[in-house]
Amino acid sequence: MGTAADWKENLIQAALEARKMAYAPYSHYCVGAALLTKSGEVYQGGNIENASYGATNCAERTAIFKAVSEGHRHFMAIAVAGGLAGQEPADYAYPCGICRQVLEEFADGDLVVLVAKDKEDYREYKLDELLPCGFGGGSIQ
Ligand code: THU
Repeated sequence: MGTAADWKENLIQAALEARKMAYAPYSHYCVGAALLTKSGEVYQGGNIENASYGATNCAERTAIFKAVSEGHRHFMAIAVAGGLAGQEPADYAYPCGICRQVLEEFADGDLVVLVAKDKEDYREYKLDELLPCGFGGGSIQ
């Protein structure tokens, strides 16, 4: 029988695993994300850098785009962990502004964001705290 906190630890573990797949030959800063759908699936993503730096895709967006492209539209939570290649995360890696905006599109207002160093050391937010007064689909109706 699991505890209520298990799903958070599991999601952080999935983010840490995804981090190992990050492609970051330029910054050497590897990020992993794990996105939990409201129907219970987990989609993982790592950052994917490019020699043309602006073409880089963040870990969070990799995970979101994988999930959305497979038909998911509603998400409960995302875990994010980042740090220098070959090291454990030394600090909390907060989602960048673009990723916060992309999360906003599918957040239903209550998305949980776990910003983790490891399974025991993480900070928990609602997306609304990280992106107050966000611009969403309702804004343009
Ligand atoms: N990065 C992410 O993957 N997620 C974020 O929210 C912030 C930044 C990546 C992009 C780039 O590959 C590296 O971290 C350094 O900016």
